[in-house]
Amino acid sequence: MAQVRTEQTKFLLSESELPRRWYNIRADMPNPAQPVLHPGTGQPVGPDDLAPLFPMELILQEVSEDAEVAIPEEILDIYSLWRPTPLFRARRLEQAIGTRSRIFYKYEGVSPPGSHKPNTAVAQAYYNAKEGRTRLATETGAGQWGSALAFATTLFGLECKVYMVKISYEQKPFRRSLIQAWGATIIASPSEETQSGRAVLEEHPDSPGSLGIAISEAVEDAASREDTAYSLGSVLNHVLLHQTVIGQEAIAQMDQAGAFPDVVIGCVGGGSNFAGLAFPFLREKIAGREIDVLACEPTACPTLTRGVFAYDFGDTSKLTPLAPMHTLGHDFVPAPIHAGGLRYHGVAPLISQLVRDGLVRAEAYLQNDCFASAVEFARHEGIIPAPEAAHAIHGAIQTARAADEAGEERTILFNLSGHGHFDMAAYDKYFAGDLEDVALDEAEIQRALAAIEGLPTPA
Ligand SMILES: Cc1ncc(COP(=O)(O)O)c(C=O)c1O
Repeated sequence: MAQVRTEQTKFLLSESELPRRWYNIRADMPNPAQPVLHPGTGQPVGPDDLAPLFPMELILQEVSEDAEVAIPEEILDIYSLWRPTPLFRARRLEQAIGTRSRIFYKYEGVSPPGSHKPNTAVAQAYYNAKEGRTRLATETGAGQWGSALAFATTLFGLECKVYMVKISYEQKPFRRSLIQAWGATIIASPSEETQSGRAVLEEHPDSPGSLGIAISEAVEDAASREDTAYSLGSVLNHVLLHQTVIGQEAIAQMDQAGAFPDVVIGCVGGGSNFAGLAFPFLREKIAGREIDVLACEPTACPTLTRGVFAYDFGDTSKLTPLAPMHTLGHDFVPAPIHAGGLRYHGVAPLISQLVRDGLVRAEAYLQNDCFASAVEFARHEGIIPAPEAAHAIHGAIQTARAADEAGEERTILFNLSGHGHFDMAAYDKYFAGDLEDVALDEAEIQRALAAIEGLPTPA
């Protein structure tokens, strides 16, 4: 186990140390992720199938097997508004919980929208603008992704339409304002503006919405307009690729601290912040280094811990290709928990494959336990975490406690993917004791999984 050399709290890199390449884990995976399939033909999806929705450079990144992809100067220039992000040693939290372990966290909340999401939003806006698209359509859960894309598109002079999951639209009015401040148009999903939205509303007029439904609406919008591309904030290979600046910076910063993590932890919705931190460390793990890599998810949406590995649609209306991933079924509508960004029925195929191969393990937590850990963290470290990131904090605290019980000392690194300044209503509910803990029963999981019967089975 590496020793910490200094008493330093904050590990910073200069702008000139910003990574100049994204890391593509596809080059190193022991078993490649299986291909995404066209639902009509059952054949692997090719670049031409994706061209109506995405610019060609992103499609090429989606299928690339090169280990590294150069980051264009224009993107680096925008990244330098907030990157490199700081890495902290959580000394006060360590003391408060009385652990012998060292806890470090990488803080992505310093970006203008307050999370890791602009790492890919800026890249996606750049490639779309370069290839002549003038408008982007997207979905957003908690509003973090919608605000990140609104921020990125305004920098490149693109229009942006955001379909926001209705429950979050109602719970998070100020993320809505943020999206509008950056010049995007926003609507609650399910909406009356698309066929997919109208179909859901007809059957469930009070639907709280879900990421699956909002994705259907945004894809339909993009597919029906020549000037518009679709933009996704997680799950896809190119999105995970763009996030790897996080882990590359963290490796350099841990090095500054004279340490290397025994455990790397992130929360998982679609998987992008987890991949961003973990993939550069998994590169080392695949090369033989011992690292425990832990993905944290909510018990209300336990995709990795209780879902199946299967081919499934990415959205509720079955408009997307079939992806090989851990899934709870495309019509699964998670309970309206406050970590809106973790309410997705599937997870990135790359992460699913790595879980299958035993390189990543997963745990699921109740939301009240996550808020308790988030509050403990805030009271000692200061930062108010996003409810999604609270799952990673809970994972880190649990890991430290387990190590103490086993009489071990570990170096733990987790991703603090965003701040919770726009999530204070959720904290209010937690303090009032009004947050419900949702643990799914097996019957509901089996009901939802019936939706994928008859779809192709992965090898
Ligand atoms: C702060 C934060 N963390 C994590 C997530 C989960 O997404 P992903 O798994 O793609 O990182 C979100 C999604 O909105 C988020 O806003």
